[in-house]
Amino acid sequence: MKKAWWKEAVVYQVYPRSFQDSNGDGIGDLPGVTARLPYLRDLGVDVIWLSPFYQSPGKDNGYDISNYQAIQPEFGTMEDFDTLLSQAHSMGLKVVIDLVVNHTSDEHPWFQESRKSRDNPYRDYYIWRDGVDGGPPNNWGASFSGSAWELDETTGQYYLHTFGTFQPDLNWENPAVRQEVYQMMRWWCGRGVDGFRMDVISMISKTPQMPDGECGPGSLYSSFGPYVVNGPHVHTFLQEMNREVLSKYDLLTVGECPGLTVEQACRYANEDGTELTMAFQFEHMDLDGGESFKWNLRKMDLLELKANLSKWQYGLNGKAWNSLYWCNHDQPRIVSRLGDDSSPVLRERSAKALALCLHMMQGTPYIFEGEELGMTNGDFKTLADFRDVESLNAYQELTRSGVMEPEAMLRCLCYKSRDNARTPMQWNTEPEAGFTTGTPWIRTNANYTEINAAEQVTRQDSVYNFYRQLIALRHTHPVIVYGSYQLLWPEDRQLFAYLRQWEGCTLLAVCNLSGDEDRAELPQGFAGKAPLIANLPDTVLEGTMVLRPWEAFAVLV
Ligand code: GLC
Ligand code: CA
Repeated sequence: MKKAWWKEAVVYQVYPRSFQDSNGDGIGDLPGVTARLPYLRDLGVDVIWLSPFYQSPGKDNGYDISNYQAIQPEFGTMEDFDTLLSQAHSMGLKVVIDLVVNHTSDEHPWFQESRKSRDNPYRDYYIWRDGVDGGPPNNWGASFSGSAWELDETTGQYYLHTFGTFQPDLNWENPAVRQEVYQMMRWWCGRGVDGFRMDVISMISKTPQMPDGECGPGSLYSSFGPYVVNGPHVHTFLQEMNREVLSKYDLLTVGECPGLTVEQACRYANEDGTELTMAFQFEHMDLDGGESFKWNLRKMDLLELKANLSKWQYGLNGKAWNSLYWCNHDQPRIVSRLGDDSSPVLRERSAKALALCLHMMQGTPYIFEGEELGMTNGDFKTLADFRDVESLNAYQELTRSGVMEPEAMLRCLCYKSRDNARTPMQWNTEPEAGFTTGTPWIRTNANYTEINAAEQVTRQDSVYNFYRQLIALRHTHPVIVYGSYQLLWPEDRQLFAYLRQWEGCTLLAVCNLSGDEDRAELPQGFAGKAPLIANLPDTVLEGTMVLRPWEAFAVLV
């Protein structure tokens, strides 16, 4: 296995809108991020991934970009960005930016031109088709509800938008589009960024025929997945991007890849480095209801979770590189989803157990802002508390069509909405958690008086200090980075346990991911050893031991 800095790194995701407001307008901004860099340095992370801060109408909080080379004024200026970057670099932190090139905003000048006439030079920057029988070109549904096609009156044709109507998909078959993207990427590399997180990059190549898909029972629309995800030319395009841009710099590149399989990951993130350095897969996040069944209250099944994550550990070992995550700006908070946020003690213990379980695996771990505090889902009360376009559109579509009762749908939003990740970062006990002196753009969780960074930084046994310890261990022990993986006790419904091996070292991680006790027979050689890390102060390793609720430890021999 090849060694690389990005394999040894821990990444921290900042969602600028929700991280730190510096001017009291209620919206987090780049100067706010800069002010908090010492906090991230002290946590010990190596890389910061910044969600979009580019010029944007903000209908999808910046994932709808109208100028890739300008900063949205509410986030600051280009000078603010350069300051952030140089200060981060001076603290030894690398900065990865978001690359959103499956689509632009409908306010991007390319689209403004494209929609003007059928023979406009920018027409082929996007995907235009004639309607069929007075309706859209095919039956694909969009990720944010409704048809994936929008009729544009000016020219009488439909454009494809796999997300919101305001997010037209770029036509990657057009070489001019690809060159525009590469030129823009080189421009950011020239400014000094250290990599890209590539938004839904597995979707950039569409099957040219664009056939109808199969509709599920009672559904008007089909999934575009089979014709869009891992499409026919996606690897050709990424190899070209690699030759023209990525190979010229020393970057971390992580593809957000809906529909990723192990086989596909071995191509996107191959060890030869001809495409990306790593990829995000979604399978484990979809275990409590896939994309189409997202709106439910199901809990993940631990046996399925173990089987799934282990499949990725085995499947990529030596061939490609995993990205490890529980949380990001699109996912509810893991402690509310898979842990237990019903009491302070169990919340902290389960947050630590989940952290240990993920951070001792092979791959590059990603921490989403506030995860290191064990931040919980938001305390949303009514529909008016939500901001996310996906949530609001789904609510309208599913309640109007009678698929969901309003009350039930609201409960699903409270559990699963992306807004759960996007509530203000909880810094301290000042009003609005120290996030803003004004009115935050989204409701601050009232539990900030109890869960906040200021308190946790100073408390030895906090979730924050547990994350800090996990990060430090990864930087100290190569077995955590490079070791092989072996799942233990696959049939145990409570314990997630595994071995890692590397150059004569063996690491054992045992996590009770349940609120009940469970008995474990440790493999030979671990009894009597002191744990490397544990989430209870008095864990003693015995040949036969009883793990307490949410108890977790790792040990090295
Ligand atoms: C990705 C982003 C998500 C965004 C979508 C469309 O999934 O993570 O936040 O809404 O792409 O850009
Ligand atoms: Ca602000």
